[in-house]
Amino acid sequence: MGIDVEFQGRFPIKFRASAHHSAANRKNIKYLKESGPQLAEGTGHLEVASILSPHPALIDEATIARRVDEMAGEIANVAGGEMVVVGLLKGCFVFMADLVRALHRQGVSCTVDFMRLSSYADAKVSSGSVKMAADVSLDLAGRQVLIVDDILDTGRTLAFARERLQAHRPAGLWTAALLDKPSRRELPFQADFVGFAIPDRFVAGYGIDHAERHRDIPYIVAID
Ligand code: IMP
Ligand code: MG
Repeated sequence: MGIDVEFQGRFPIKFRASAHHSAANRKNIKYLKESGPQLAEGTGHLEVASILSPHPALIDEATIARRVDEMAGEIANVAGGEMVVVGLLKGCFVFMADLVRALHRQGVSCTVDFMRLSSYADAKVSSGSVKMAADVSLDLAGRQVLIVDDILDTGRTLAFARERLQAHRPAGLWTAALLDKPSRRELPFQADFVGFAIPDRFVAGYGIDHAERHRDIPYIVAID
C-alpha cells in the first residue's frame, strides 16, 4: 500500500519510505527521527506500514472475539433454533455482524432487522430523550427476538427499544449489549446478555462512534 504525499509534521502513523521509489524522490524526503511519532517533511512516495489508532486499546480484538463467542453460547442456551436479531443502529453494526455469525456456529439461525434510535447526537452527554428514526420492518409476533446494542449506559435506549418491540407480542424478547456501564444507569434496566462491564469512560471503536468517528477501529478504545 503506498501513497504519494507532500507532508510536513508529526503523524500518528507508522511509516517507512518505499524501497521502490526513485533516487530523485528519495532525495526529497527528510526524516527527523524522534522517540514518539516521527517528524518528517518533503515530498515523495510513502509506503504505509500500518495505520495506528492514536488511542490505546481498552479491550483488544482477541478478547472481544472470545467474549462474543461465549455470549453466543449463552444466548443459544435460551434461544432455541431461530431468532430475529434486531440491531440498534448505527452502533450495533460490527458487534451484531460478529454475533449473528457466532450464533450461526452455535446452531441458531438468525433473521436480522434494525431500528435506528438516537439519544446522543454529536455530544458525549446523553440528551436524555430517545428518538426513533427508523422502525423494524419484520413481523415479530410469536418470534424469539434479541435486541442488540453496542453500549448500555443510562438504560434509556434499550428500555425504549424493549418497550416498543414488546408491543409486537414476540414469543420471547431478550436484550444484549456488548458493553455495560452500570454506574451510569438512570433507569433500573439490566440487559440479559452483557459482553463486558466497564467503568464510566467514553469509548469508541468496534462500531461505536464519537461524533461519527472511530467506528472502524477494530477494538475498543477509551477516548476521554
Ligand atoms: P443509553 O440510552 O444512555 O443507555 O445510551 C446508549 C447509547 O448511548 C448507546 O447505544 C451508544 O450509542 C451511546 N453511548 C453511550 N456511551 C457511549 C460511549 O462511551 N461512547 C459512544 N457512545 C456511547
Ligand atoms: Mg448507539
